[in-house]
This record gives sequence, C-alpha cells and structure tokens, in this order.
Amino acid sequence: MSRNFATQSTCHHVAIVMDGNGRWADERGLPRLEGHRAGAVAVRRATEAAARLGVPLLTLYAFSSDNWRRPEDEVRGLFALFTVYLREERERALREGVRVSVIGRRDRLAPRLVREIERTEETTRGGTRLHLRIAIDYSARDLLVAAASDVPRSRDEMSRAIARAMHAEASTEDVDLFIRTGRERRLSDFLLWECAYAELVFYDRMWPDFSAEDLEEALRAFERRQRRFGKTPAQTAEVAR
Ligand code: IPE
Ligand code: IPE
Ligand code: MG
Repeated sequence: MSRNFATQSTCHHVAIVMDGNGRWADERGLPRLEGHRAGAVAVRRATEAAARLGVPLLTLYAFSSDNWRRPEDEVRGLFALFTVYLREERERALREGVRVSVIGRRDRLAPRLVREIERTEETTRGGTRLHLRIAIDYSARDLLVAAASDVPRSRDEMSRAIARAMHAEASTEDVDLFIRTGRERRLSDFLLWECAYAELVFYDRMWPDFSAEDLEEALRAFERRQRRFGKTPAQTAEVAR
C-alpha cells in the first residue's frame, strides 16, 4: 500500500518498544546476542517503512536505564552493536534524508559511542524525510525527575525541560501511536509524559520478525481509532466533519 498516512492523518509520532530479541533467539537455540543482531535488521526495515509511509517522527526504545541490570556480556554486546549500527547507518541515512538522533543519558556511555552519536547527529542533521530517534540509557521517570528540578510551571515548560534532559532539541513531542512487540502489554518506563494520549497497539510477534506490513497495519488501526482528548464522541465527530 502506498498511501501516505501521515499527511492524511494526525499520526505524527510513532514510538516502538522493540521487545522480544532474546526470546526470538532462544526459540532458535541461538545466543541472545544473535537476537539483538536480527533486531538491528528489523530496525532498518522499520525505518525504511516509516519513511515510505510518511511518518515524520519515529522513536525506538533500544536500551532502558534498567537494562544495565542485564548480564555484563549482553550489555557489552548491545553497546558494540549500537556503535557499529550508528557508524554504518550514517551514510545511508544521509542519502535517504533521514535525520538520526539519540535520546537518553550520555554520561554513562563509552566515549567512543558518544563520539559516534555526535558524528551521526551532525552528519544527518539536515534530513527532512524522517526523524529517527533512538532511545539509549533512557528512563522516562529519571527524565521527569531531572525536568522537575527546573521547576516547570506549565505543560509547555515541562516538555521543554524533558527535551533538554534527554539531549533533544526544543520540546518533546506527544506520541500518537505506541507499538510494542514481544507479547508484553506494558510501557517499561518509555515516554511516560509523551504517551498521555497515545493509541496503543501490541504485537505478539518478536521484534526481529516485525515487518513493514506490521507497521502499515498499526497505522491502519490508528486511522480507525477515534481520539477524543476528553470530549464526547459526538463533539469529536462534529470537529472531524
Ligand atoms: C528487546 O529485546 C531489546 C532490549 C531490551 C535491548 P529483549 O532483549 O528484551 O528480548 P526478550 O524480552 O528477553 O525476549
Ligand atoms: C524494554 O524492554 C526496553 C527495550 C525494549 C529497550 P525490556 O524487555 O527491558 O522490558 P521489561 O523488563 O520486560 O519490562
Ligand atoms: Mg524484553
């Protein structure tokens, strides 16, 4: 399907909890890291699909602040993957008009990874087709605590304070469509402020099996939802006419 959803609907921001890499590998008798490798391929697929479908902003959860609690070798393997991914994707993103940035804490990341992040952000800054944001060492609750120390007095001030705390520019944007793969139905500390009115879509399939068609299907499900933001169904239908 070639329909450009985002220009015809209000789906500006899609956020995905890419869950199930480990179980995908387990089911195949492979080490967990193989699942994460296959997950990186699925990231490429989802990014291409989002750009093709006209989604302007895609935020992917790659590593939560609680994921530091995993075995050391898995954490090391994941960070090696992030470093290679950012290096390899730079040129492709530039060619395809994709702006890549990373949100989350940076003070606990290896200097080498921080350099790759900065170079990728710098190189792809001019991309206008899709803004891909990857959340690494990300905790929504920690960000809310950090933002609160600025004493924000309005929702707009809070959104700006959160953006500052996670190394994003301007103001953090509401999530329109929240997707989680891997059978779990939970938020796991992702974009808690931004998901206030997000539409939720869950997939039983594991992240490495997530396809372009799945993203299209989620966008179609989004189209069918009536977002009311506190109003009645009748009021909402009136505005839509
Ligand atoms: C998501 O897959 C990727 C990361 C959290 C880094 P998991 O690694 O959580 O996979 P499962 O949930 O153990 O299958
Ligand atoms: C959430 O997945 C984090 C990422 C996908 C990066 P987890 O697998 O860590 O979440 P829980 O622990 O099952 O809630
Ligand atoms: Mg998991």
